[in-house]
Amino acid sequence: MTAPALLVVRDLRVLIGGRHILHGVDLDVAHHGVTALLGRNGAGKTTTVRGVLGLVPRAGSVLLDGEETVGLPTHTLVRRGIGYAPEDRGIFAGLTVAENLRLAERRGAEGPAYGLVHELFPELKRRERQLAGTLSGGQQQMVAIGRTLLNGNRLIIADEPTKGLAPKVVTEVAQVLERAAEAVPVLLVEQNLAVVRRLAEHCVVLADGRTAHQGDAAGLLGDAEATRRLLGVGRGPLAPHTAEADS
Ligand SMILES: Nc1ncnc2c1ncn2[C@@H]1O[C@H](COP(=O)(O)OP(=O)(O)O)[C@@H](O)[C@H]1O
Ligand SMILES: [Mg+2]
Repeated sequence: MTAPALLVVRDLRVLIGGRHILHGVDLDVAHHGVTALLGRNGAGKTTTVRGVLGLVPRAGSVLLDGEETVGLPTHTLVRRGIGYAPEDRGIFAGLTVAENLRLAERRGAEGPAYGLVHELFPELKRRERQLAGTLSGGQQQMVAIGRTLLNGNRLIIADEPTKGLAPKVVTEVAQVLERAAEAVPVLLVEQNLAVVRRLAEHCVVLADGRTAHQGDAAGLLGDAEATRRLLGVGRGPLAPHTAEADS
């Protein structure tokens, strides 16, 4: 990348309960498209995302469009335009789809972008009065991603949005992310390498709380030795998903 990236993370460190979880994560998120954040289970992907958002105590540097954000509280980062679809989806099961979206609305000049959300997810329009707890895993993921698109965010961070979904639903969610990324750049934590191959231009690989590799996604995925060494594909949890249940 020649121009400075949208998000520039340098030497991000996170200490939780006296334990060093991250000891030096470097990460650039491009201004366009999907940047994938990869690594084996426990490598520190979720902690990196939570560190970027200020949800855990952090040190180091996180520049959003050139401005330092370490030291700013999470609500300020959210107001500055970082949308977050967390690993557990963060859906209110007892509320309807429409209510879940309404709760995500932020006051701003533009007003919530229901047009965009319903264009990308017609299913959410059809199901707006359905209780979110009765949606399938894929539909809940659409609510989680839809919420990040409501407020004109500058960056969307999605943490393993395809996890635990049936293959057909993985494809649907990938399509949605692909379209979302045409509107807003996405940092995608993803274990499914078929999804990474399809969506991501750039990738960052973490290992043991550090950045182990940064580069173009096609280059890494085309290098069998590097993917095996960095991701353990073929004998670990990063092998492309098989027929798991749609939770
Ligand atoms: N709140 C926490 N307290 C203690 N250890 C944690 C906490 N959150 C994560 N960890 C540990 O930090 C490591 C990285 O976790 P995580 O960021 O969730 O990895 P990933 O998302 O890559 O699977 C793991 O060893 C995990 O057990
Ligand atoms: Mg995780």
